[in-house]
Amino acid sequence: MGKNVEQKPVAVVTGASSGVGKDIASILALKGGCLTILVSRSKEKLSNAAAEISGQGGECLSYAADIRSEEEMAAMAEEIKKRYGRVNFLINNAGQGIFKAIGDLIVDEWNLMHETMVLGSFLCTKHLLPLMVNAAGYRHILINSSFWGVEGRVAKCTAYNSAKFAQRGFAQSLREELRQQGVKVTCFLPASIDTPFFDGEDTWEHTPERILSSKDLAQVVYDILYYPGNLVVEEMAVQAIDPD
Ligand SMILES: NC(=O)c1ccc[n+]([C@@H]2O[C@H](COP(=O)([O-])OP(=O)(O)OC[C@H]3O[C@@H](n4cnc5c(N)ncnc54)[C@H](OP(=O)(O)O)[C@@H]3O)[C@@H](O)[C@H]2O)c1
Repeated sequence: MGKNVEQKPVAVVTGASSGVGKDIASILALKGGCLTILVSRSKEKLSNAAAEISGQGGECLSYAADIRSEEEMAAMAEEIKKRYGRVNFLINNAGQGIFKAIGDLIVDEWNLMHETMVLGSFLCTKHLLPLMVNAAGYRHILINSSFWGVEGRVAKCTAYNSAKFAQRGFAQSLREELRQQGVKVTCFLPASIDTPFFDGEDTWEHTPERILSSKDLAQVVYDILYYPGNLVVEEMAVQAIDPD
């Protein structure tokens, strides 16, 4: 987009090595002209995603970290502060799903989902917010919850759905807290998406063409982030027209 680094919005996308996070990172770098920081645990998946984006002319950086670690999130914020001094967009997207009957679900699995999606959203937000409040231009946090964070009547999803409802509650309170600081907060609530999320998972069988496409959703996220003025999309639920 012909801007130098100082003029580009800085976007941080968690879970950007795969699925919808990767497509959001891509559209923010390529169409939004953002300097996009891709975050996830796997260095290899991250650098492949970053290479794909930079190969198309987008500016990005990969940062391998576990969003469940406060130490790692504090270090990441410090590194971003040193390099760029600001964050304009924070996309709390990383997530994980394990779908089992309640009796088969173990505490470690319950904790993994809550720590990744609820604690992770809290830690990223807490440590990056100081870099957002005084940033010039866009200031927007998007939390990728789920349609199942609105409508949880799905069997074998107790841990996942409770974490997704928690993310929605987190976003609702955060929005009220940040209004006067001019930071917008959106809770995104998509139904099933065609991503590697369901790989190896036999509870769900989806026809890829009948569920949501992660590229279409990335376009919707882009639109939400770039609406002008004081308009904020507080929540957006998205479903495919004829899902299976
Ligand atoms: N797919 C769906 O049907 C669907 C529907 C509604 C909402 N969602 C939500 O959309 C989000 C993205 O899911 P997706 O479908 O794109 O799944 P995906 O392709 O499996 O991507 C998940 C991403 O999260 C990262 N991640 C997981 N744990 C992490 C951790 N502790 N720290 C940092 N990164 C971590 C993964 O990378 P590493 O493994 O390398 O860390 C990966 O990049 C999730 O929050 C999911 O709940 C998905």
